[in-house]
Amino acid sequence: MFPVRRMRRLRKSERLRSLVREAEVTKGDLIYPVFVQEGIERREAIDAMPGQYRLPLRGLRKEAQELVDLGIPGVILFGIPARKDAKGSQAYAPRGIVQRAVAEMKAEVGEDLLVITDVCLCEYTSHGHCGIFKGGKVLNDPTLELLARTAVSHAKAGADMVAPSDMMDGRVGAIRSALDEAGCEETLIMSYAAKYASAFYGPFREAASSAPSFGDRKGYQMDPGNSDEALREVLLDLEEGADIVMVKPALAYLDVIYRVKNEFLAPTAAYNVSGEYAIVKAAAEKGYCDERKLVMEVLTAIKRAGADIILTYHAKDAAGWLDGG
Ligand code: PBG
Repeated sequence: MFPVRRMRRLRKSERLRSLVREAEVTKGDLIYPVFVQEGIERREAIDAMPGQYRLPLRGLRKEAQELVDLGIPGVILFGIPARKDAKGSQAYAPRGIVQRAVAEMKAEVGEDLLVITDVCLCEYTSHGHCGIFKGGKVLNDPTLELLARTAVSHAKAGADMVAPSDMMDGRVGAIRSALDEAGCEETLIMSYAAKYASAFYGPFREAASSAPSFGDRKGYQMDPGNSDEALREVLLDLEEGADIVMVKPALAYLDVIYRVKNEFLAPTAAYNVSGEYAIVKAAAEKGYCDERKLVMEVLTAIKRAGADIILTYHAKDAAGWLDGG
């Protein structure tokens, strides 16, 4: 007890603080999300996400090399097709935008970068829902086949890992068996296991033009009030064959990350989503907060909560800062 115990002794210098620090973000934890848009020639700025762009296909080789040079281990690709239809057919077209994007990146950097693909239909359907829409609802089981086809087409294009974000029941199992049948048993699955119906996805939906044209996603994404349910979702995905499980969003759901990591001791990812990024950027632009300190605190908090992997639009900046830049 005081005065024998003095907590401040360990905080006296940066050398001591760093010696006893429990959670620390490293570049090796980060995955950078990239938007690729079909049919554009130049990159387009995303208004609600300052510093982020929709890239043309031909910009991807340079992007891949830049990430490798920064020491960022992985990228997650989101595609914006030139044409959308009711069944999201461009999601599983062999020469679809993401399939070609994967091939471009792999041709440039090969094994030096993990190329992960988001598997979902919402960017490809005319109605903007994450599955087949009929009679006022999103049909679960018929959607599974399309998701599995999408995942296999990504793997065949060279993706190291597929990341289903649709929240249909049974999709991890359906994707795992389809991959195995197609001879892609080496392809990993990172499932968006506990994905909440969140307002924090707003800027992303603008970036990917993927907002539902009617209704919302509450019939398949999780209710923000629940965390026991998150554990049940994660358990099912692990049983169905997920290699990595993800919690999304990250910041408002740190307790969920903590519970998931502690309960299952499985590789756990957290998605520091578009709205979380936009908030930080807006506060920094207005001069209300120091961007660099804010970002490093946010990422450290996500790591401390239990995430092994952080998907974040701040990845490039953070990698530079972690290098002492
Ligand atoms: C696709 C998907 C979304 C995000 C990742 N994959 C949007 C959504 O579910 O509406 C959000 C990512 C972000 O906000 O940064 N289903």
